[in-house]
Amino acid sequence: MAIVYKRLGKTKEKIPALGMGTWQMSVDGGSLAALKKGLALGDGFIDTAEIYGTEELVGSAIKDEGEDENDVFIASKVWPSHFKYKEVLHACEQSLKRLGVKTIDLYQLHWPNYTVPIEETMAAMEHLQKEGKIRHIGVSNFTVKEFQEAQACLSYSDIVSNQVEYSIIMREPEKDGLLEFCEKEGVTLIAYSPLASGALFERRRAPLLKELEAIAARYGKTASQISLSWLISHEPVVAIPKASTVTHTEQNIATMDIGLLAEDIAELDEVSSRFRKLHHTPLAGSPLTRKILKHTKFWHKYAERKYGGNKNL
Ligand SMILES: NC(=O)c1ccc[n+]([C@@H]2O[C@H](COP(=O)([O-])OP(=O)(O)OC[C@H]3O[C@@H](n4cnc5c(N)ncnc54)[C@H](OP(=O)(O)O)[C@@H]3O)[C@@H](O)[C@H]2O)c1
Repeated sequence: MAIVYKRLGKTKEKIPALGMGTWQMSVDGGSLAALKKGLALGDGFIDTAEIYGTEELVGSAIKDEGEDENDVFIASKVWPSHFKYKEVLHACEQSLKRLGVKTIDLYQLHWPNYTVPIEETMAAMEHLQKEGKIRHIGVSNFTVKEFQEAQACLSYSDIVSNQVEYSIIMREPEKDGLLEFCEKEGVTLIAYSPLASGALFERRRAPLLKELEAIAARYGKTASQISLSWLISHEPVVAIPKASTVTHTEQNIATMDIGLLAEDIAELDEVSSRFRKLHHTPLAGSPLTRKILKHTKFWHKYAERKYGGNKNL
């Protein structure tokens, strides 16, 4: 089980091709043990967000495992209701406290927010970077156009990553040009919900799963492992599956060095395309959601619905 590294954006830094997501992790022993196992196996890349309520859990895992914070790549996110200049600075301070670290390695805008000028938000991000509170600036759920607009507001930094939904049954980044853009521009595409939040395993997808399993069997792996391996076979892509059990964590980490053959990647492409009727609807990035978010100022309400309310807001 070897950790495979990929370049972060255009920087000289390398991060594991597969990190650990923490959305919907219960703050109990099981999730903590899963994160600690990942760290112990050398997977020093964890994704969290102020809205998830899991920053303390991430901090505990790092501390319990006796990891130096400099050896773990911590990615967190600021929620759009905190996009005004001072609010970004405050939100970052709070996240640092909850994580129990001095610096966040990658600080991401969780969603675009059309109700706050992007210039104001990006100025705050650069300020945080200058102060050493964050090392890299990233975005999430941004279209190519939104990414370019945000990038144009930065005076000296590059946005290193865009975190979007991408899986073998949700291939929107291939269709909307984001994958190609990231490849060309040297931007890391962080694939979230890489197992479609578990939808990959729904009963109605059994025929697709059966075909994935057949390909996976050639490598002695499972369908989920081969799906993750397919994702990271795309050059700019790293993925952040969420695992709440030690077994899932081990399985996920063991996908990094599978090294899929080109013909198997092509076959997975083909199988996935053939079952496109079973593809997953991109909830977060659906055109309807984007339309609503574009006009709403009620980010708190959206958060409450999607994340069940959160004391960090
Ligand atoms: N930026 C955004 O807007 C955004 C949105 C959504 C998610 N994210 C990030 O992306 C991360 C991952 O996405 P996600 O949480 O939606 O879902 P996911 O990683 O696609 O799927 C998680 C589900 O897959 C299961 N699983 C994990 N490893 C498995 C394995 N090896 N075999 C079989 N099942 C496995 C998990 O079960 P167990 O939990 O029982 O292990 C859980 O039910 C999040 O945690 C978060 O960090 C970001």
